Amino acid sequence: MRSLWLATAPSIPADPLPAGATYDSVVVGAGLTGLTTALLLSRAGHRVAVLEARTAGAVTTGNTTAKLSLLQGTSISAILKHHDEDVARAYVLGNREGQAWLLRFCDENGIGYQTRDAVGYATTDTGARKLTAEHQACLTAGLDTELGSAASLPFPVRKTLRLKDQAQFHPLEVLAGLAAEFRRHGGTLVEGVRVEGVAKAPEGAEGVELRTSAGPVTASNVVLATGIPILDRGGYFAVLQPMRSYCVALTVEDDVPEDMYLSADSPTRSLRTAVVDGTPYLIVGGNGHKVGHSSATQARVDGLTRWAQEYFPTARPAYAWSAQDYAPAAAVPYVGKVPAGGGHIYAATGYDKWGMTNAVAASLALSGEILGGNMPWAGTLYRTRVSGADALQTAQANAAVGLEMVSGWLGGLARSSSSTPGEGEGRVIREGARPIGVCTVDGVQHRVSAVCPHLKGILTWNDAERSWDCPLHGSRFTADGKLLEGPSTADLADTRR
Ligand SMILES: Cc1cc2nc3c(=O)[nH]c(=O)nc-3n(C[C@H](O)[C@H](O)[C@H](O)COP(=O)(O)OP(=O)(O)OC[C@H]3O[C@@H](n4cnc5c(N)ncnc54)[C@H](O)[C@@H]3O)c2cc1C
Ligand code: FES
Repeated sequence: MRSLWLATAPSIPADPLPAGATYDSVVVGAGLTGLTTALLLSRAGHRVAVLEARTAGAVTTGNTTAKLSLLQGTSISAILKHHDEDVARAYVLGNREGQAWLLRFCDENGIGYQTRDAVGYATTDTGARKLTAEHQACLTAGLDTELGSAASLPFPVRKTLRLKDQAQFHPLEVLAGLAAEFRRHGGTLVEGVRVEGVAKAPEGAEGVELRTSAGPVTASNVVLATGIPILDRGGYFAVLQPMRSYCVALTVEDDVPEDMYLSADSPTRSLRTAVVDGTPYLIVGGNGHKVGHSSATQARVDGLTRWAQEYFPTARPAYAWSAQDYAPAAAVPYVGKVPAGGGHIYAATGYDKWGMTNAVAASLALSGEILGGNMPWAGTLYRTRVSGADALQTAQANAAVGLEMVSGWLGGLARSSSSTPGEGEGRVIREGARPIGVCTVDGVQHRVSAVCPHLKGILTWNDAERSWDCPLHGSRFTADGKLLEGPSTADLADTRR
């Protein structure tokens, strides 16, 4: 599967990593968080390198829906369940600043975007009640939402919640613009280099030494912009729920709704339009689940296509893709200095599928903190320490996953046989005491250790992506065991070990 954005991405040039390099700041990860933070630091005169394990935008930013909206489902209601009104207002202020910064950047750099209303819609009474509650929450938090019932959708709706004049864009065009501006300010963007660990700098040097797949790099500060943070020091994996969901881009000859829609009812349906290289598309997203919690993932993609064709009969699928983001237990992102990071390590995570504004807000806050500035909303909004209550909430959710995973594994064992999985299929079998993943992709059979190198979760097969996915904290691996994403920093172990 390949996203519309990655398939039509402008070229993003990268740099070699100089041997024995030393920087003021190293940013790990070239998604929206990493490249925005890196640009802000380099504009302030910092010597900055971005180290990206894959390619710029390869993970969530290149597989997003890219609505730049302050109306974000029912997120303000969720924040008010955990926090007081000041935190909800700070969330809106931070996201508003993030949105304004990105639109200004696009204007100044000739990057296209479209202004659209964001509309939540309900088809049931339950959904309508959620939208009414979100409207009240938005008004409290300083967002001028409007309740109504008018929607240009091809089915009846009970209620809508509208926020006017939001935006949508092509995320790889934005990343290319950020990367170009960063390199113009002397920044170094390195692709294909994985950061595997961070330790105190050697005797006599300031800051930290990063252990990377291309050798050591030293820096005064490190920003982990890796989605879920690598390194377990902050314990963030214990308070983040990795959630994967799906998108299809379809060519449609029927009239399509121009606004950006999001259902309040389950299963979630997210709609937006895009015109790429002169071709108009309707993008439909949804059918999400916890990572590693569903093996019939291709059925979820097919379900989205069927839904689109039911309401837009001329719709033809052109691209399909999926991605994951991290839901924070306390409903607000974790951004700032990592505890036990010696004062040199920063992280930003937990955007809960609203990273287009949240990533930029986090970048403004992180660069401000590193450069000695002050964002009053960031002090109110962000957490850096993991609380016991939040960790317990996530552990309870994960316990259910863990149970399912173990029973799934045992079920797999009961069924395990010497038969070869069919094309695109995979399963976990037992050899002695070891769980082994076997799958067949493009006619080639692969055998990998089915134990996640992060904290030993047992992996499940994802038939849409043809990957091994960890149900605990969301690490994912190719059919032959190469790390794709998540908190792990290693590939799957050799089955002979
Ligand atoms: C299906 C879906 C739809 C979404 N739609 C929207 C939307 O419409 N609007 C919105 O606001 N948000 C949306 N989001 C959320 C948004 O896309 C994300 O929050 C945002 O892209 C996260 O950006 P990031 O830079 O933090 O992470 P990423 O883009 O994931 O970047 C992290 C980078 O770090 C790299 N990396 C990881 N580990 C290492 C390592 N050890 N060494 C070096 N590099 C490493 C990765 O390769 C990756 O490139 C959506 C999310 C999903 C899943
Ligand atoms: S990602 Fe933590 S155990 Fe797999």
